[in-house]
Amino acid sequence: MNETQAVINPSLFGEVIPYEHALQFDRWMKTHTQPYRKLMSFYSCAMMEIETKFKVLNEDLSLKYDRNPIESIQTRLKTPDSIMHKMAQRRVPLSVEAIEQSIRDIAGVRVICSFQSDVYMLAKALLSQDDITQIEIKDYIRHPKQNGYRSLHLIISVPIFLHNEKKSMCVEVQLRTLAMNLWANTEHKIRYKKDYTVTPQDAMVLFECAKECASIDKKLEEIYHHIQETERIHEYDDSG
Ligand code: GTP
Ligand code: MG
Repeated sequence: MNETQAVINPSLFGEVIPYEHALQFDRWMKTHTQPYRKLMSFYSCAMMEIETKFKVLNEDLSLKYDRNPIESIQTRLKTPDSIMHKMAQRRVPLSVEAIEQSIRDIAGVRVICSFQSDVYMLAKALLSQDDITQIEIKDYIRHPKQNGYRSLHLIISVPIFLHNEKKSMCVEVQLRTLAMNLWANTEHKIRYKKDYTVTPQDAMVLFECAKECASIDKKLEEIYHHIQETERIHEYDDSG
């Protein structure tokens, strides 16, 4: 057994650990804990960079549009067990370097917007910044997932400036509207990554709910544009 197997072998849990495994585990922890914590702190810094960029965009755009395009921003670092799970699923040998190379969603930033057009406007504004490198875009709004899931996903790389080096880190950004978020959060609780499967009838109802959320988004955005247009006409009339 090599050191990697000693760490991810589930038989280590709930049973008496053989002495030689315990030694291996202890050695593995000592050599990997520090680099792992360092890597996680890099991701945490990258997450802060992106969160700040969105806060700046929200402030700037609120002056232009007289409203905040961002409702809320959530950040999360992938948990160690979730990282282990993904590495094991992908059959990648466990090392801090391999974690950095093979997992791109360790740092996650979710941006909840008022309207669908805000999602695209914010994504464009972020991607046009000269320190941001676009790695991948998945547009689940124009191309919803089969279950009805909608969101815009970006994998980007952002530089972080440390006391003695500059590092580029990957961050997963998910942008969605309030209605898309309502559906995704609820569906996640009900179904996503759970071991049990929902019935085809329930899946159909969930799919219909996603369509209704999309329809609400569309109607709300239409009303918003209509009101804006009406205001513009009034302003024009008043000035004339
Ligand atoms: P992961 O291995 O889960 O990261 O998936 P992926 O690499 O194929 O990436 P994808 O962009 O499809 O999904 C990444 C993330 O989007 C997930 O971790 C969820 O947060 C969210 N997501 C994707 N699909 C669904 C879905 O069907 N329902 C919900 N609620 N969330 C989803
Ligand atoms: Mg993920």
